[in-house]
Amino acid sequence: MASPDPKFEVAPPVAPVMVRVEDISKNFGNVRAIEHVSFEIRQGEVLGFLGPNGAGKTTAMRILTGFFPPTQGRVWIGEIELFKKPKEAKRHIGYMPESVSLYGDMKVLEFLGFVARIKNVPRGKRAAHIEEKLQRCGVGEVKNRLIGQLSKGYRQRIGLAQALIGDPGVLILDEPTNGLDPKQIVEVRSLIRELGKERTLILSTHILPEVSMVCDRVLIMNRGSVVASGTTEELEAGLKKAHEIFVVMGDRCRKEEALDILRSISGIDRITVTEEKNDQVSFSMVISRNEDLRPVISRLFVERKLPLLEIRSGRLSLEEIFMKIVLDEKSGRDF
Ligand SMILES: Nc1ncnc2c1ncn2[C@@H]1O[C@H](COP(=O)(O)OP(=O)(O)O)[C@@H](O)[C@H]1O
Ligand SMILES: [Mg+2]
Repeated sequence: MASPDPKFEVAPPVAPVMVRVEDISKNFGNVRAIEHVSFEIRQGEVLGFLGPNGAGKTTAMRILTGFFPPTQGRVWIGEIELFKKPKEAKRHIGYMPESVSLYGDMKVLEFLGFVARIKNVPRGKRAAHIEEKLQRCGVGEVKNRLIGQLSKGYRQRIGLAQALIGDPGVLILDEPTNGLDPKQIVEVRSLIRELGKERTLILSTHILPEVSMVCDRVLIMNRGSVVASGTTEELEAGLKKAHEIFVVMGDRCRKEEALDILRSISGIDRITVTEEKNDQVSFSMVISRNEDLRPVISRLFVERKLPLLEIRSGRLSLEEIFMKIVLDEKSGRDF
């Protein structure tokens, strides 16, 4: 193709928004499973929900699939508002639930035939359609076996094949590698990467390295809220800046005074009392910026005549920082 005349150069086309989530919350009785979650996914993007157990990932996904409505908020699949036209919207969604509750006493082909009927794949096209999904997910050789007798790795891939039936534009996969052995994990991840090239895909995981291997963009969830979000590069760059400072003070009775000083310094995100022994008290704190706060801390301690015995800084691994974000109560932090 000829290179365009620079005078008429236009911005590259932006892919359309495939899923839009607007301020959703979900309560189960007194339990607030998710609160005030908003995001958008564009066509062809792979979005990861990363968070520990109980963070609200499954709840958010069930809302996106129309399994139950949110207590508050709205969801669009393309131009269709999900809870206004659920039947129409659901046609564009393929869902692989957390524990693939496949029908154990059915043969693989029977099960996929059943799904193809539900998803309105025309009768005359069903066999070829199913065959293509079987090949795609590498489960062709077990198509005549009973699902209940297959290994977890096979069942997981049949769960994926099932989600692909009807060629939905949006795929939602809840912890797709959970419970697999290392070899199966590698296989399923590469399959997900392949699928993500042609569709919009949302997956959840509680494994940090998995998101950088598979996802374009990540929402880190904790206790029902989105605590950080960005592309994997942004997230890693932001996380890599973070470091930790350790302080040991020689007067345990003045712990609260020292805590007040540390809390007053901007740039310190999370302060933990790590040890109280004899007369000493130790603190550790997370700094999310690329700035050495040790001179500020020591000056304030000296001004207040607090006996500073030790101050040093250390790097945190990505895994440690993720754990700290997740333990952090604060929400809305953006990297
Ligand atoms: N059907 C339900 N009834 C009551 N509480 C629920 C239900 N589903 C989820 N929860 C609660 O909502 C919170 C989020 O759970 P979940 O969405 O399953 O998190 P995750 O998938 O990140 O592990 C948890 O505290 C969980 O106990
Ligand atoms: Mg879950």
